Amino acid sequence: MAENDHMVEAQPPDPARMRRDYPGWPGEPLTEQTLGATWLEQFQRWFAEAVAAPEIVEPNAMVVATVGRQSVPSARTVLLKAVDDRGFVFYTNYESRKATEIGMNPEVCLVFPWHAISRQVIVGGTAERVARSETEAYFATRPRSSQLGAWASPQSRVVTRAELEAALADAAARFPEPEPVPAPPHWGGLLVRPRTVEFWQGRPGRLHDRLRFRDTGQAWIVERLAP
Ligand SMILES: Cc1cc2nc3c(=O)[nH]c(=O)nc-3n(C[C@H](O)[C@H](O)[C@H](O)COP(=O)(O)O)c2cc1C
Repeated sequence: MAENDHMVEAQPPDPARMRRDYPGWPGEPLTEQTLGATWLEQFQRWFAEAVAAPEIVEPNAMVVATVGRQSVPSARTVLLKAVDDRGFVFYTNYESRKATEIGMNPEVCLVFPWHAISRQVIVGGTAERVARSETEAYFATRPRSSQLGAWASPQSRVVTRAELEAALADAAARFPEPEPVPAPPHWGGLLVRPRTVEFWQGRPGRLHDRLRFRDTGQAWIVERLAP
């Protein structure tokens, strides 16, 4: 029986028995010689490969970790919506837990969990709001239902389902079709400017490759980390 074939087992799945060897994907190790010249070049290369991998459902999904009061961390998945030489952009509610924590402490960590291709990318850096014009340009591309949802959801607050549905109905009444829905003032983009970008490539035998771009303040350098 296959290790992961839990459906036919009477026992609950045992995570201690789950083991997967990393063949390396697409079969190449990550070396200082093959690494892109910049973190952005390397990210774009791996992102394109993640997008091309049918096993990865949402290649632009990333976990963003923030630090709140009394150094309590929190983390959640968001979607990457832009990447360029400034850094990584995602959109959210500026009154949400994550955005409130970023307001108190801009230090964040991002993780792209591309397990299906034995890779992960970890970014450390600081988050800041994007220009209002950038938020408005992106908001205009969202489906109308998502636009109304951004108005209706007091993200991270305790609510009832009935309150949410009433807020959505209010938003729909406030912005009747065919008028465009404007971006809510409490919603927008956050840009994560990286200070470190680590590329992790799983390899057989657990001696995985970890190459990290790090901004020393004078220059970006590349370091290899022990797996
Ligand atoms: C695949 C996936 C993508 C998501 N994308 C976003 C996103 O782009 N922006 C966002 O605010 N929340 C997104 N969410 C919801 C967040 O994970 C989270 O529940 C929400 O932002 C509230 O987080 P907070 O209370 O920690 O601020 C996504 C969730 C999943 C599972």
